[in-house]
Parts: sequence; structure tokens; C-alpha cells
Amino acid sequence: MSHAPQPPNPADSPLQIDRTALEQLAALLLEKVGLKITPDGYYGLRLAMQARMPALGLSDGQDYVRRLRQLAGEAELRGLLPLVTVGKTEFFRDTRQFRAIEHTLMPQMLARARRASRHVEIWSAGCATGEEPYSLGMVAVEAGALGGEVDVWATDLNPAAVEFARVGLYPVRRMIGISEERIARFFTFSDAGYQVLPAVREMVRFEGHNLAAPVFPHVLPGSKDLILCRNVIIYFDQPTIRGLMDRFFDALRPGGVLLLGYSESLFRISSKFEMFEIDGTFAYRRPWPQDGTPTAPPPRPSAPAPAPSAPRPLQHVLPRRPTTGTFRFPLPPPSAPPAKPRPSEVHRSPVERLDDVVRLIEKGDFPQAMLAAHRLTDDHPEDLAALLTLGNVHALMGNADEARDCFAKALRAEPLCVEARIYVGLACLQEGKLEEAKSELQKALFLEPTLSLGHYLLAQVHEKRGEKEAALRCYRNAVQQRRYSQRALLGHYPELPGSSDAIAQAAQYRLAALSES
Ligand SMILES: C[S@@+](CC[C@H](N)C(=O)[O-])C[C@H]1O[C@@H](n2cnc3c(N)ncnc32)[C@H](O)[C@@H]1O
Repeated sequence: MSHAPQPPNPADSPLQIDRTALEQLAALLLEKVGLKITPDGYYGLRLAMQARMPALGLSDGQDYVRRLRQLAGEAELRGLLPLVTVGKTEFFRDTRQFRAIEHTLMPQMLARARRASRHVEIWSAGCATGEEPYSLGMVAVEAGALGGEVDVWATDLNPAAVEFARVGLYPVRRMIGISEERIARFFTFSDAGYQVLPAVREMVRFEGHNLAAPVFPHVLPGSKDLILCRNVIIYFDQPTIRGLMDRFFDALRPGGVLLLGYSESLFRISSKFEMFEIDGTFAYRRPWPQDGTPTAPPPRPSAPAPAPSAPRPLQHVLPRRPTTGTFRFPLPPPSAPPAKPRPSEVHRSPVERLDDVVRLIEKGDFPQAMLAAHRLTDDHPEDLAALLTLGNVHALMGNADEARDCFAKALRAEPLCVEARIYVGLACLQEGKLEEAKSELQKALFLEPTLSLGHYLLAQVHEKRGEKEAALRCYRNAVQQRRYSQRALLGHYPELPGSSDAIAQAAQYRLAALSES
């Protein structure tokens, strides 16, 4: 059980963060990563600045923003991003994962712990302002956990967020994502907001903790039943993620489960874990020992790297639309009731249904793919992969407004969604809106500089704009990213080269062609 020393609270130091500094930072985030932070979210911005400024020896918020604007400020801006999205966390974030916890994981963990006369140990790693660990506590109570049966250890780097979380008092606007029944059951209401009841608060122990630290001396090996580390590692570099995953592996019991965020995967990061599907979502498990019980279902292979395809000329890399110009697939009127799921869809998981959509897209049957994706997003509006895929189908069919709407919804759900930026970039590229395509792809690359596909697409934009030198530079960048593993993107877009080898080959083909021209 860990008792890490509490880091000093920077809120105690005399930091000068005035409204102008917050406005300047909000403007910078909008410009660089397309993150829209309204004055409602300035509280989160302030917390993030309080956490980052002391390490740079800065006490003035405006100096900090000036530092971010310098060339060398890019690394700091990336470090700041997971903190500014603190405000983004919410109760029961990612309904599919919470459904899996509620229906399967929590009852299993409780049953196993009871059989072994021990308590369940859960770690919410990167817990932000506490919504995630408190949601776990509520699920535990609903599953019949008695006092002391479940211990949720909730940690975060940001001491101000940890302090906020400990109090467990949330303004009304932070209560989205939580049902009225749960609000009535687990919160008290006062003028100050909604406070989590002591019965749940006592289940959760908050502490400051840096996940990037090379060792976790206070974490008992093999002690955790479940670790949630969601939307935290996206901006860690690969060696840091690898080290962290090793430490998580050691911290988990055999059979213990790790849940990552929507865009995070261990694809080519760690092969120690088994990936498995559970209630329509993916999770990672520390395998049971070979001779051990119970037996785990066979792991579902992580997204396979497509075989390197032969280099294709530019015009073949992007799929052609079914028709060109002003074609618009006739859509149901907005007032029409949502199409009912087909009987064959009723018992299928969202993952299986999305696989069906992908098959239709690959067959070139965009109208059917669109209808199936519509039904899927109606049934599972929280499903980011389905939403992004629907956006792509709309874009390919020339339904630009509907496509934008899907991508905007995805960005509302996940403001730093790299895929949404890539797909908007692709849609703009197809529509010939090159300035916008460039800006979107640059945002994607700011968020994920090692994304080979992003460099490749940006090169295509430059090529179309006749900017030969810039195109060459971006193709070279695309080739260079081969040394980094490329994660599978969420959502489907047909015919995109998937593996870093395939992208590098296509980029090399273009480099050769451009150099000759
Ligand atoms: C976007 S929030 C995610 C909150 C929650 N896990 C969720 O998914 O809703 C990311 C959190 O990671 C924390 N974080 C970033 N770097 C960290 C580090 N090195 N160690 C611990 N926490 C970190 C940030 O302070 C922030 O609270």
C-alpha cells in the first residue's frame, strides 16, 4: 500500500496568475491545438499553471505564456496539455468502460477478494479532480461492497487537483455524465455544489504521485486488482510509457486489469499484457501464471500491422469519392425518428457492429455503411470510433456538414482527439480546402509529432499547394517516424496506409517522384 510523501503545494507559493495570463494561455491553446477553453474552464487552466510554473522557476503567469510561445516552449506546452484537460474529466467518463466495470469487473473482483479474505485494491492513476475514483467508489457501493472492502488509491501529479479532489465538492456544471439516481444516492447538495457522501469519500485515498518517476517504491508488487490510467500517457514519450507499463504490470495481481484511455494502446509498447474484449471495450490483463487458475480467454490480437503495401502514387492513396462535385447522398430529414437497429444488430456489441460498418466501407457500399454507422451512433452516442467513422463516411459521400458535425462532436467528447484533426484534415484535403487542411494536420502533429500519417498527409497538402520544398520536408518527416511505433487510429478511413513501413514506402515514392520533377 503506498504512502508517497505529499509534494509541496504550489498554491502556497506567491504565484501571480491574473485574468490576462489565463486569456493569453486560452488563446495559445486554441491556436496550437484547437483546444477551446471558455472562461468556465479558467479554473482548470489556473490549476495547470500552478503545477507547471514552479519547476520552471516562474512566478508570473504572463511570463509563463511568453515562455510557451518561444520555440523551446513546445516541450513545455506538451507537458502542460494533460494538465489543462483536467477540467475535461467527468464522472463515469467512457460509458463503455464503466459498463464493463459495473457489469463484470467489479463483481468479479469482489468475489475473488472475498474468497481470499482480502480487500479489492484499485488504482486511479492520473485521477485529476477525483471524478474517476469517486465513480469507481459509487460502482463499488452499488455492487454491494461493504465498508473497507474496496480501497481506491487515487493519485495525480497536480497537487492542486488532488486537493480539490479530496474535498469532493463539485459545481453543478461538473455533474454531467452522472444519472439523477446516482446524484440522489451519493451526493449532498448545498449552495456550494454537490459533495460526495462520506461513505464514498472514505473509500478513496488521494495522494500526489508522479507516474513518470522511474520506480514506485511504495507500490506493493502484485497488489492491484484494477488500474485505470486513462488520458494521461498520451503525451509521455515511448521510453516513459514503456517504463510505466512495466511498473503497472508489476503492481497488478495475476489476472489484474489495466484500463487505458480511448486513444491509448499498448500496441508495440508492451507484449506482457493480454488484450481482451469486455462488454464492448478493450482492456489489458496481467496473465495468470501458466499453471495458474482460472484460465484466461485467448487474447484478442492487438491491431495487426497491415502488410507493407506497394508504394502507390498520390492519387491512389486517398480513396476517390463515389461521385464528384456536388453529389450528396439524400439524408433522412432531421425530424425523422432514428432508424431502428436491425434484428441482427440487437445482440451485437458496438465493436462487432463497427466491424460490420468497416466491412461495408471496404466493399465500397458507403450508403449502407452510413446507415449502419448512424444506427450505431444513435445507440452508442459515446462511441468515439463509431462517430469518427460516420464522419469519414459522410465526408466521402460529400456530406460535408454532417461530417463536420460528427468531428465536432468527437472533439467535444475528447478535445485533444488527434484522429478528429486528421480526419477533418483529410476531408478538407478532399474538398480542396487546403489552408484548413494544413491547419488541422498541424494541430494533429503538434499533439502527436511522431504520427507518420500526419506528416504524410501534410506533405500531400503542400504538394497540392505547389510548395515543393515543404512537401519534401514533410515526406522526409513521414519516413523518419518509422523509428517510432505507430498506434492504430481510432475510426476507419478506407485505404489509408496503416503501418509505418507502408507510409514510409509511399513517402519515399513521392520523394523520388518530386526530386525528379
Ligand atoms: C486528462 S486528465 C485525465 C483524468 C482521468 N484519468 C480521466 O480520464 O478522466 C490527465 C491527468 O493526468 C495527470 N498527469 C499528467 N502527467 C502526470 C504524471 N506524470 N503523473 C501523474 N499524473 C499526471 C494530470 O495532472 C491530469 O490530472
